[in-house]
Amino acid sequence: MNRLEGKVAIVTGGAGGIGAATARRLAREGAKVLVADIAHEAAEAVAAAIGDAAHGYAFDAADNDSVEAMVEFAAQHFGRLDILHNNAAYVGADLARDSKVTDIPYDLWDKTMAINLRAYFVGCRFAIPHMARTGGGSIINTASGSAFLGDLARVAYGTSKGAVVSLTRYVATQHAAEGIRCNAIAPGLIMTPAFANSGQTNLEPFMKQILSPRVGTPDDVAAAVAYLASDEAGYITGTVLHVDGGLSAHQPYVADFEAMLAGG
Ligand SMILES: NC(=O)c1ccc[n+]([C@@H]2O[C@H](COP(=O)([O-])OP(=O)(O)OC[C@H]3O[C@@H](n4cnc5c(N)ncnc54)[C@H](O)[C@@H]3O)[C@@H](O)[C@H]2O)c1
Repeated sequence: MNRLEGKVAIVTGGAGGIGAATARRLAREGAKVLVADIAHEAAEAVAAAIGDAAHGYAFDAADNDSVEAMVEFAAQHFGRLDILHNNAAYVGADLARDSKVTDIPYDLWDKTMAINLRAYFVGCRFAIPHMARTGGGSIINTASGSAFLGDLARVAYGTSKGAVVSLTRYVATQHAAEGIRCNAIAPGLIMTPAFANSGQTNLEPFMKQILSPRVGTPDDVAAAVAYLASDEAGYITGTVLHVDGGLSAHQPYVADFEAMLAGG
């Protein structure tokens, strides 16, 4: 499919996992792609493997000027800007310190909000004028199932993702007249290389709740982003597409209840 021929995209967090798969998918569909990440060498490697259609770029999502410079670079380097996939997030080892409201350090709260949320807003702020100049564009923000449900830990991560959904609706509402669509993706459990290497090998608690008989892959998310980026999704804006194998589609106690009825 060549649904994105002639279009220019930025993928943040493009060095690995979902972002790398999305960069590859958008390029395969004809887009030119800026693979942007704080992990510069990995971003370069993803771009090099894609070839001429991609360019690796180092930026720090925690720094407003760096986000602005990234957007301006993409528009200048490729001559226009049609697609912004805000996807970078603070999901490394520090996630373990992202605990409860009463425990989480202020600096971690602030850093999480800066990378997971403020950078998405700043990216939109500077991408929108470029998109408006050429008649429109598509912004796809990576939220999470954590945006919609509480958790015993990760209060900053979940709150930042909830706000990403709100930001998505505000951008969609305020810029529809300029031809700009803005949607969010809410991945459930996605088996990225980072997750596969995390030592978390027992998927049983997840598979009890995921309706699909398999776990999600970065390519599942990439396909959804490519669709929302394309003109095929031209009448879709301000919405959230759950890419979660049905995880969010049902009452979470059903699996346990059925096991109980079956005498398990
Ligand atoms: N994998 C899942 O199961 C899952 C589930 C729900 C949501 N998500 C979301 O999907 C997105 C991608 O996550 P992933 O699972 O591919 O993990 P990942 O760690 O592979 O991707 C995150 C990327 O963000 C980059 N990044 C971190 N801090 C940055 C900064 N300050 N500036 C620029 N880049 C920075 C990292 O270098 C990394 O490449 C994230 O928004 C994450 O919250 C993932």
